[in-house]
Parts: sequence; structure tokens; C-alpha cells
Amino acid sequence: MKYIQNNPVPIPSFGASSEVKTTMDTVFDWQYALEKDNLLALYEKGKGATWNASDLAWDTDVDVERLVQQRREAGVGGMMNQLLNPPRPLDDDEQLRLQVNMNAFMLSQFLHGEQGALVATAKIVQQVPWEEAKFYAANQVADEARHVEAYHRYLTEKLGISFEIHPSLNSLLTDIVSDSRWDVTYLGMQIMVEGLALAAFGIMRLMMQDEPLIQDITTRIMADESRHVAFGVLSLEDVYRNQMSASELREREDFVIEATHLMRDRLLMHQVFERLGWDAKVWVPWMTETPFMRGFRQMLFSKIVPNLKRLGLLTPRVREAYEKLDLLRFEHMKDSVEDPDVTPPQELVQFLMQALAGAQPGAAPQSGPPST
Ligand SMILES: [Fe+2]
Ligand SMILES: [Fe+2]
Repeated sequence: MKYIQNNPVPIPSFGASSEVKTTMDTVFDWQYALEKDNLLALYEKGKGATWNASDLAWDTDVDVERLVQQRREAGVGGMMNQLLNPPRPLDDDEQLRLQVNMNAFMLSQFLHGEQGALVATAKIVQQVPWEEAKFYAANQVADEARHVEAYHRYLTEKLGISFEIHPSLNSLLTDIVSDSRWDVTYLGMQIMVEGLALAAFGIMRLMMQDEPLIQDITTRIMADESRHVAFGVLSLEDVYRNQMSASELREREDFVIEATHLMRDRLLMHQVFERLGWDAKVWVPWMTETPFMRGFRQMLFSKIVPNLKRLGLLTPRVREAYEKLDLLRFEHMKDSVEDPDVTPPQELVQFLMQALAGAQPGAAPQSGPPST
């Protein structure tokens, strides 16, 4: 798996590594009852689905600038000014740099999230009390190492542009791996971070249809992630529905609300504007408020909301917080057990397709997603 880091990932201001202190119980399961058939079935599926990141078409010529230019020539240029109503009109070169950097920013946060999943799931191997869950978590750990490898190689060898971890994602990963409660590791990683990642990968796949290498990477990783999210739902369902006191459940509600706010903030991309030399004080509020971007961010929660509902965590307090963020419209979608496939929500596909169509010369500009 030797590859050349043409342009290494930038080191964050807090240093090249970080240590997170935690106190936790490591649990051995000497009973080996292996009675959770759904987890054993997932483990069998996971074992058969392994792929080798070294086998991907790494000789693909990746040039996102050229792709953006080709799209413009094909009539999808001007999207930024028409759709996003930026604080000032962007010239062609600025639009190109914004799109290239936003793409690299999203992929970089995928990479850092994957490292978080690697570490958090190793923690689950130690903490979870059932042997069959340890089996599956170990299988997931191997998946996550492969995901880190694939994204890191893509960013450093092929793309040549990358970003350090966003502070809000770093806070969330720190919260997840420092928490002593095993179920909170699952809740934070498998339900929240990976639930959001599944939707984000779906968006990446739709937006980068003309780049075959990232299509292949994303399709493979999404298939793995759909198992990981199902692992979280299957493991936690009975625990949250039948085994927790009201006060314990309230602590989980607090965690969900806090994690949701951190995930929303990590989507604001201030690092992109700093990299471009644009005033983040102007551009971040624009990203927060502009209807298209708000709709875009909301759709990233389309997998999380039905999964929380299945776990019994869409409680009045969580509903109140989600109502304010306009996220409850996803509550009737299929959860990750009903629909393990990762078909992006129809609403999202329509939204993106309308966005692209709206950017055709002469077409009416779209002001936002259909339901906002
Ligand atoms: Fe992953
Ligand atoms: Fe994962």
C-alpha cells in the first residue's frame, strides 16, 4: 500500500497528535452465548464484504479544477451566483476555487471522521459486554482502517488539497472517545457521526458523478457504513427501549442534542474561507442562513432522525430541539434496519437535480430546497 503523499494533510494548531484521557471498564464475555442472531448475521456479511484499497484504480487522473471547468462549459456554470446568492458576485475563478476547496474540505472531514470511527470502534471492542458485538466491532475496525487509507491516499496523492480537522468535529470525537459509557460511544459514532456520514457520502457521490475514482471509493465505503450504522441500531435498540431509567435516558437525550449542534457547526466550513483569504465573518453567516445551504445541511440528518426514532430517542426534548432545526420531516423515512441500502432520500436527489437544472442558462434560479 505504498503511496506518495504529494501534499500531506496540514497539522492542526494543537499539534500533530492529541491524547484523550478516559477511564473505562474493559469487559470479557466468558459465557460466549452468541445469541444475538442479527449481530452474528451482520458479522457474516461484513466478513464477506472486505475489499482491498490497494486494488482501486489509483492511476486515474484526478483533476477537479478541470471537471468544474467542463461542467461550466456544459452549462452548469454560474451555479454559485444563481443558487447561493453569495454576499458578493463571484467571478469564474473564485467560483472554481470555492468549489474545489469545498470538495477538499468535505473529503478531509470524511478522513478525520474515519480515524475517529477507527478509534471509537476499537473502544467498543473492549467495552461492549456481548461477544458477538465484539466480533462485529472488530470487523468494523478493519473497515475503518481501510477507509482512512483510501481517503488519505485520495487526498494526498490524487487531490493535493486537504484541511485539518474542524474544531467541532474534534470536540465531538473527543466527547465520544472520552465517555466511559459504552453505549454512548455507539450512540455518538454509529448513530450520529456515521449516520451523518452516510448522507454526506450520498451527496458526494451525486456531486462527483464525473470523477470515477471517488465514485468507486464512495460506493465501497457507503456499503460498509450502512452495516456500521445498522450495527449501532441493532445493538442499542433493546438497551434504550427496555433497560434504561428515565434519568439515564435523559443523559442520552442531552448527548444527542449536543452532538447535533456540534455536527451542524462542523458543516460551516470557516476553514475554507480562511484558506481562500475571504472574510469568514461575512461568509460563515451566509453559509448559515442561505436557504440552499440550510437545506443541504438539514438533509445530512435524513438517516439520523429515523434511527433515533427506532431507538426510542426521539423523545419530547429531542423533538423540541429538532423542531427548531427543522429536522423532524425525516422522522417517517426508513431507518437503517428497515432499509440497510443507502439510497439517498428522494428529496435530496430532487433537490440536487433541480439545483443543477436551475443553473442551466435561462432557467429560473432556485432559491432553496423544495420543503424549506
Ligand atoms: Fe468508515
Ligand atoms: Fe464506519
